[in-house]
Amino acid sequence: MSTLVIRPNVSKGIINRNIYGHFSEHLGRCVYQGMFVGKDSPIPNENGMRTDVVDALRKIQVPVLRWPGGCFADEYHWRDGVGTQETRKRMVNTHWGGVVEDNSFGTHEFMELCRQIGCEPYVNGNVGSGTIREMSEWVEYLNSDGDSTIVRERRANGRRDPYGVKYWGVGNENWGCGGNMRPEYYADLFRQFQTYCRDYGENKLTRIACGPSADDYNWTDVLMKQAGRFMNALTLHYYTVVGSWENKGWATEADEATYNLTLAKASFMDELIVKHRAIMDQYDPDRRIGLIVDEWGCWHNVERGTVPGFLYQQNTMRDAVVAALTLNIFNRHCDRVVMANLAQTVNVLQSVLLTDGADMLLTPTYHVFDLYKAHQDATEAACDVSSGVLSNGLRRISASASVKDGVLTATAANLSMTEREEIRISIVGFDGIEGFTAKSATGRVITGGINAHNTFEDKNAVEPKELTVSINNDNTLSVTMPPCSVAALTING
Ligand code: AHR
Repeated sequence: MSTLVIRPNVSKGIINRNIYGHFSEHLGRCVYQGMFVGKDSPIPNENGMRTDVVDALRKIQVPVLRWPGGCFADEYHWRDGVGTQETRKRMVNTHWGGVVEDNSFGTHEFMELCRQIGCEPYVNGNVGSGTIREMSEWVEYLNSDGDSTIVRERRANGRRDPYGVKYWGVGNENWGCGGNMRPEYYADLFRQFQTYCRDYGENKLTRIACGPSADDYNWTDVLMKQAGRFMNALTLHYYTVVGSWENKGWATEADEATYNLTLAKASFMDELIVKHRAIMDQYDPDRRIGLIVDEWGCWHNVERGTVPGFLYQQNTMRDAVVAALTLNIFNRHCDRVVMANLAQTVNVLQSVLLTDGADMLLTPTYHVFDLYKAHQDATEAACDVSSGVLSNGLRRISASASVKDGVLTATAANLSMTEREEIRISIVGFDGIEGFTAKSATGRVITGGINAHNTFEDKNAVEPKELTVSINNDNTLSVTMPPCSVAALTING
């Protein structure tokens, strides 16, 4: 048996809704076909955006969407993607599959997609192959209300009012595909580029600096030391990869050892955040600068028979458990982690949705985001887990909790592949302050074998089911989680 002790009166603060953010790149069938099909498509759409996809993303309350990359961001020139469709420049997407990019999805289309989803746009500017002027003018094009030529151009292209974009990335992976820079060099470029990314009117930009790859602590140290005072946030990228980059294993063919290794690798996220935030604390003890994990998720081999550069992979209960334990980690670090963006929304890497022509399915990871959405903007509640340990050194149960509008949400994953787990949950006060008394509780759970997944032939093989939660006389609750499962409990006080 495992126990959770939840202390609603002990909190690290608000869980920023943006922790539940997503990432969409011009890569494979993520943007094109996955989200954007064009106005003339027979696939139902509004202004070119797939209605089924937009509806599904609205349901999980996607708070923020990052675009246009990824590596693509540092090859992207925004002017190629504005103006009439006929005049848009064609380029070859050299990073991802060598396909022709016709720029039919550009700035206005991205803003329209965000409007339909109801999320904030997070635009990632080009440092690697772009210029300061180009980035500066993109911000002006999006956000200014002045009577400049750039603003007149936006108006001529159909948008009178400024868009008010808040989240602005200054380059992506500039230690790698974004220019192979040294941290000292990038820190200087960041200082310079961000200077010309102006605030317009009341809109204040969140200036986001490219942070480290995984455990490159030196990058964080140099960036914080040399450019910390110019940034509002620093990014971190970490993918869960099992095996080598050449052979990462198949998405739907994990055995027990691979499953356990996957979870161990995913939980490395906690150590990464602990160590990077410790460095940030040295330079920014007041935590003015947020940590943004704007690329994370499982990266498996591309599915057999698909284009290698398109990074299409299936998505199983193994991925769902990774998502659940990672989101629990982010919730627990909500006093430094202000945003996270799963890679990537549709048809690429650990997507929440897969499409096939006009058809669409929800992946197990989608259901995790649905189960966890009550955490958005809720007050984190301390949640101590006491649980047995698996062969990979991880506790059987990963959990986090929050309170919003008098409702306590506890989310948990049972990491064991084979054993169900009984959990006793205590909700206790703190320092004599009256605690939270449970009056009613409901639960929802997804479960299945580690390779269980949804296909276009069987779209609901993995879907949320009711989970029985009992309230005991002593204000504790009991629940039994099936093996390899993810659950959300809604507890009303
Ligand atoms: O998400 C796929 C790629 O992974 C991104 O383009 C890049 O930023 C990262 O290396």
